[in-house]
Amino acid sequence: MAIATGTDLNPLTSELNERLTAGPVSAADVMALALYHPLHGYYRRGAGPWGFEGKDYYTALDLGPLLGQTLALRLEQAWQHLERPAQFTVLEAGAGRGWLGRDILNAATPPFATALHYTHRDDNPAARKAAEEALAPFLATGRARFMHEAESIEPFIGAVLSNELFDALPAQPWRWDGTRWVREVLTQNGPQWHPHHEPISTTWFESQGDGIETGDGSVWCEALPLVASTLAKALQAGLFITIDYGDQASNLLAKGADLRRFKSHTVDGKWWDELGECDLTADVDFTRLIGILEATGLRQVAHESLSHWIRAHAPLGQWEAEWRELATQARIKRMENLLQLTMPGMMGERFRVLEGWRE
Ligand SMILES: C[S@@+](CC[C@H](N)C(=O)[O-])C[C@H]1O[C@@H](n2cnc3c(N)ncnc32)[C@H](O)[C@@H]1O
Repeated sequence: MAIATGTDLNPLTSELNERLTAGPVSAADVMALALYHPLHGYYRRGAGPWGFEGKDYYTALDLGPLLGQTLALRLEQAWQHLERPAQFTVLEAGAGRGWLGRDILNAATPPFATALHYTHRDDNPAARKAAEEALAPFLATGRARFMHEAESIEPFIGAVLSNELFDALPAQPWRWDGTRWVREVLTQNGPQWHPHHEPISTTWFESQGDGIETGDGSVWCEALPLVASTLAKALQAGLFITIDYGDQASNLLAKGADLRRFKSHTVDGKWWDELGECDLTADVDFTRLIGILEATGLRQVAHESLSHWIRAHAPLGQWEAEWRELATQARIKRMENLLQLTMPGMMGERFRVLEGWRE
């Protein structure tokens, strides 16, 4: 079975079919091609995939401003904790359309707002166009700016922030088949699990939980240490905060974490299909991420569900007063924003918020 046939092949599918003639391609390499091919990758193409209507998926930012408003308060607390530095930089990696930056900048009030400067770091061209629009008033006054992913980051005081960055990094599914470790690959006959020797990932899996059983397995993100530690090391003092899908390592192993594909608001496991036209994501191993961040000197690194974090930190008193003033449709949308981020079984339970400090 070839991956696709026909005369109007997606360029990525043709490229993959050619690579497959030389042998199996790992799922992580397929994910890297699908998301980050310089011209046709899902996050490198010209048109954006986000939103509710006719798009592939939505993020917490599409639901409304509650996440940004809560972050604005949390960042203000960090600024107070650092004894109110004159400049407090928030660097958002994987910032996409810049909506989170916009919501934070809109919600911040003086004197914190005067110190707050926002940096958007993401090479996604479609998202960058949307971010230029969303951040326009703040770009004009110098309170927001753009930075490319390859640019080195000068050490700064403030916060490193990300929403759904780490789950978008290429990751490799692994399973214990009862006698050996196998990894998922694509072959000319479709996806298969092949034995492979890679002590760095499998030793990590074996060190988590009380013994591995047949069918256990997880996803291994090779780029995680470099991306996370580059960001954390640039933070001279302040808060590292990341919001993402995922869990602790032992839970991911027990569930057999795998890659997910989002296409037109449906989710399935067909990571090899329609390359460049669907989003692919992998759970973030928060146990591993904590270890990486602690190795850079961050302290008090811990994570909790987004719903718990929102209930603990959201400005709900002030939010309620504003909500009462809204027109009916806007009130309904705001209520949905709150419910999605706080109710069991909804988005707030599927996401986790990790925080860590550098004093
Ligand atoms: C799932 S999207 C999330 C976008 C946005 N944060 C949101 O919530 O709508 C992931 C984004 O991460 C970006 N990305 C991937 N690797 C990155 C890196 N090393 N540095 C900065 N951005 C990166 C991609 O280009 C993509 O725009």
